[in-house]
Amino acid sequence: MLKNKNIVLIGFMGVGKGSVAREVIKHSDYITIDTDDIIESMQNRKIKDIFAQDGEAYFRKLERNVAAWLESSVKNTLISTGGGFYKQENLKKIGTVVLLDSPFEKIIKRIKHHPNALKKLKKRPLLKDLKKAQELYDERRPEYLKVADIVIDVTKKSALECSKELLKKV
Ligand code: S3P
Repeated sequence: MLKNKNIVLIGFMGVGKGSVAREVIKHSDYITIDTDDIIESMQNRKIKDIFAQDGEAYFRKLERNVAAWLESSVKNTLISTGGGFYKQENLKKIGTVVLLDSPFEKIIKRIKHHPNALKKLKKRPLLKDLKKAQELYDERRPEYLKVADIVIDVTKKSALECSKELLKKV
C-alpha cells in the first residue's frame, strides 16, 4: 500500500540502493526513479563525464535542481539517490528517508564481486581512489545516520530481504 509519501533511499555508493529499489517495486505499488538517471537524461551525458567536464560543484548544483523538482512534483515514488544527495536541505520534505547501512569493507567487497565490477567502479568518479573513498565514507556515515528516519542494515541480507524490511518499516 502507498502512504501518499515518497521514500527517499540514501546510502554510500555501491551499497545496493538500485538493487533494493528494484525489489521494492516488484513487491509494492511504488514506482521508482533515480536521481543520477534524471541528471544523466537532463544533461544527455554520463555522471563521470559531468564530473570530468564541469566538476563536482556543477554536479551538486544539478542535484539541488532535482531536489527542488522532487519536492514540488513527485508523489508516491521510491526515489533512489546518489551517495551525496543526502545533503539536500529539503531532503526530509521530499519524503521518508531510508538509509541502507553497511560497513565500508563490505561495500567494496560487494562491488568487487559483482559481475560488472569494472563498469561499476568506472562510472563512479569518487570511488577511483579507495583511500579517499574510505575517508568520504567515514565523514558521511554519521551524517547519513543523522538524517535517516529509518535505517536498514544490509549486511548478510539479500536485496529482497532489505526490500521487505523497508516496506514493513515505512
Ligand atoms: C556520488 C555517488 C554516485 C553519483 C556520483 C556522486 C557520491 O551515485 O551520484 O558519482 O557523491 O557519493 P551512487 O551512490 O549511485 O553510486
